[in-house]
Amino acid sequence: MLTRAAVLYDTEKPRPYAGSQPLVIEEVELDRPGEGEVLVEIAGAGLCHSDLSTLNGAIPRPVPRHLGLLGPVPVILGHEASGIVREVGPGVRDLAPEDHVVFSFVPMCGHCKYCAIGRPVLCVKGGKANLAGTLLRNTVRFHKDGGPVLHYLGAAAFSQYTVAAQESLVKIDKEVPLDKAALFGCAILTGVGAVVNTAKVRPGESVVVFGLGGVGLSAVMGAKLAGAYPIIAVDTQPAKFELAQRLGAGHTLNALDGDPVKAVRALTGGGVDYAFEAVGNAKVLAQAYEATQRGGTTVAIGMAPPTQQLSIQASNLTYMEKTLMGSFMGSAVPRRDIPRYLNLYMNGKLPVDELVSQYLPLEEINAGFDRLAEGATVRQIIKF
Ligand SMILES: NC(=O)c1ccc[n+]([C@@H]2O[C@H](COP(=O)([O-])OP(=O)(O)OC[C@H]3O[C@@H](n4cnc5c(N)ncnc54)[C@H](O)[C@@H]3O)[C@@H](O)[C@H]2O)c1
Ligand SMILES: [Zn+2]
Ligand SMILES: [Zn+2]
Repeated sequence: MLTRAAVLYDTEKPRPYAGSQPLVIEEVELDRPGEGEVLVEIAGAGLCHSDLSTLNGAIPRPVPRHLGLLGPVPVILGHEASGIVREVGPGVRDLAPEDHVVFSFVPMCGHCKYCAIGRPVLCVKGGKANLAGTLLRNTVRFHKDGGPVLHYLGAAAFSQYTVAAQESLVKIDKEVPLDKAALFGCAILTGVGAVVNTAKVRPGESVVVFGLGGVGLSAVMGAKLAGAYPIIAVDTQPAKFELAQRLGAGHTLNALDGDPVKAVRALTGGGVDYAFEAVGNAKVLAQAYEATQRGGTTVAIGMAPPTQQLSIQASNLTYMEKTLMGSFMGSAVPRRDIPRYLNLYMNGKLPVDELVSQYLPLEEINAGFDRLAEGATVRQIIKF
């Protein structure tokens, strides 16, 4: 079949993207789902900073030469998404046409050692397929002019239709507003999960979150849910502060206005129990580390460019018994956590609607990435 998609061909286009158009809206060919695969009609697809870091080459991707490609493109981005199952391939038993699904941006094979110990975000096969830009069974289902078009993170959601491995999909309740359900595939899963799964924050523990995009604001929501106190929110864009406060932050700090580490220490009498970095910058991660007190924990959520090194004082890691942790996809077990967070949302405990800045048609996706790059927006959702 043919489907309308936003295809990335060039990671060196300058901003503004509304002018340079790195994402080309065009029709591409889409194969029918193979063994273990599912055809999904996308309902909503959020714009996440990880898509942006691929679009502008800040986080370069490997070249899948075995597919005959000379670069990491063409690729269809989009990994935070929801949709409706339209067709299932052979061997798919748990999903059927008309089912509503949310994408999990790491497909879990269910058999590797990490899947076996209950840490599917570290799935070996899933990680390998994601790096190669293929589906879990090493297939590519999009084509243009006889060549492959890669799948970003097993989802390739900036397309009206996509084919995904069944292991990339989580079935959800049909009562949930389907377009907003997209946010449960990345921002919510990642931000809330970093607090409740990775850090396991308990009531009364203090938290600071650096970076108030979709991911950081989800961490603020998660901190409120966990009963953290106080909750401090840091950004360089004061326009984010009112929303952070509505979601549970008692204090907001402008990182450009003096030293945010000193300000966090002053507010908490020496530093926080937990600091979350949701920017994707090694310098900010070092600030998050410095903002923790004795025995404190720093959680890296942001994806810094691979050229950046983290520099922290080595000795206080030891004598202050500090902890430094990475949190990928909120240390999630997607089939456990996505329905759990959706249930909290549907019952008023997670105000996810607040994260939606606007809806966009696919044709306006390049301008949407300009707004994300400027820090001027939280979550924009492409609606088909
Ligand atoms: N760990 C994971 O599994 C995972 C999942 C999704 C996204 N991410 C990463 O998380 C990060 C955040 O994603 P997002 O979509 O929320 O991004 P976003 O662009 O919406 O938000 C980033 C925020 O950081 C703010 N910021 C910039 N510089 C800052 C500074 N020096 N101090 C404080 N704040 C600053 C920006 O103003 C913006 O509000 C990205 O690096 C993204 O790649 C990681
Ligand atoms: Zn994301
Ligand atoms: Zn696995």
